[in-house]
Order: sequence, then C-alpha cells, then structure tokens
Amino acid sequence: MSKRPYIVGNWKMHGTRAMLAEARAIDRGAERLTKVEVAIAPPFTLIHAVRKEAELMGVGAQDVHPAEGGAHTGDVSAAMVKDAGADFTIVGHSERRADHGESNARVLEKAKAALAAGLNLIVCVGETEEERDAGKAEAVVSRQLSGSLPTGEELAEKITVAYEPVWAIGTGRTPTVDDVAAMHRHIRAKLVAIYGEAGAGVRILYGGSVKPDNAAELLSADEVGGALVGGASLTAESFLGIVIAAADLPRDH
Ligand code: PGA
Repeated sequence: MSKRPYIVGNWKMHGTRAMLAEARAIDRGAERLTKVEVAIAPPFTLIHAVRKEAELMGVGAQDVHPAEGGAHTGDVSAAMVKDAGADFTIVGHSERRADHGESNARVLEKAKAALAAGLNLIVCVGETEEERDAGKAEAVVSRQLSGSLPTGEELAEKITVAYEPVWAIGTGRTPTVDDVAAMHRHIRAKLVAIYGEAGAGVRILYGGSVKPDNAAELLSADEVGGALVGGASLTAESFLGIVIAAADLPRDH
C-alpha cells in the first residue's frame, strides 16, 4: 500500500496576515500537483485564515496543550485548534522539547488529547548531534517513539512520524541519504512492533534543511514518505519546488 507523498510546511513562529498570499499560492499549487498531499502548520493566529484559503491542502497546528481547557494562560487546546480549522497537529517538535522541556510523557499526553479532539498527528523524533556522535541515534529515537506514540492498532492511520535530526534543523546540513534510509528503516521496524501490520502504513517524513534542490534525493531514500519543511516552506516558490520534487518521484517509490 503506497500512500501519496506528504509534504508539510511548518511555519514555526513566522507569519502574519501578509503571508496569506503565500498560503493561497501553495494551495493553488496543491490543486495542480494532486499526486502529493500538501499541508501547512501556520502559527495558531493564522490557522483560521489559512483554512479559508485552503481548497485542497491540509491545515494544522504546531502544538496543543494536553488539557481540554482550564487555567492555562497562553496555551491552546486541541479542541480550539480543531474549531479554528486545523485537521492535524504537530507534537514533540525538537524546538518544543528543548525550549519547553517537553518529555516523551508530555508529548504522549498531547498526542492523546489531539486524537481525542479528532485531529490527526505528526509526532516528531530525532537525535542531537552529540547523541549521533556517541552512536546513540537509533536508541534515542526508539525511546522517543515508545514514549511519545499513543498505542492501539486502530490509531495508526491517524499518525505520521517525522524524523528530524536536531542538528539538521535550520542548519543547511543534512544526513546522507544512506543515514536517512537506515533511520527510517529502524523507525519502520519500531512502528510495526508498536502497531502490528498497521505500522507498515504509517508515513514517516524526513525533516531538517529540506530544500527544493535536495528534496528529490532525500525523498527517494528508503521508507521516506514525505518531508516536514521549516524555512523552505515560507514562500510558495520554494515550498512548491519541494512539492514538485515529490510529484516527480518514480511511481513505485
Ligand atoms: P528546517 O526545519 O526545514 O528549517 O530545517 C524543519 C523543522 O524543524 O520542521
């Protein structure tokens, strides 16, 4: 079973209403490039407005709070982002794990809250440079997967995993295609261990300095089902360059 490649833009803390023209242009591109599933995760403040521009692309949040509501000043719940028009949320991005001290257990709580609110999920994992140099990359990613992913075979279809080596995010450096493939195979085996047969269908995205000029190579690595894109998702021109690379992949990939 091969799903369409999934290319997701993570706008991080970028974007005011002036960027809605980019969102519109990305959505128009998605309408032409139907071989690819396209989505954007803008900041909370733009979810509603980006949803209005989106005829075809998915719209998601970058994070949610685990509670349904309550006294959590400055936080936003899964039900709120769903109400604003999101159909998925990212959880466990390394910037949240680092900036907000989010543990695997915390990411799991968020993931469960998102599913309960009817959102699909992109769960991020990835090792630091220090961990890779120490030969611990696979062990770290295994721990993140077992600690952050909600279990239950029936959930597998709602879940996407993004492998984002921390040292490749926003740095212009990427792992070799062989390293990407090796980690993605490792993640696949772990997903099958967690979800059984359904784990074979979970998409695994690569993220970290994906650009139009390296996308084809990274996307063709074994078990790579798409990309989570930060910096290069901020303009329609560069983001659609990546979507086009995904659309041009050989069919049997
Ligand atoms: P980058 O970010 O593409 O700017 O490296 C990727 C991400 O953090 O999702």
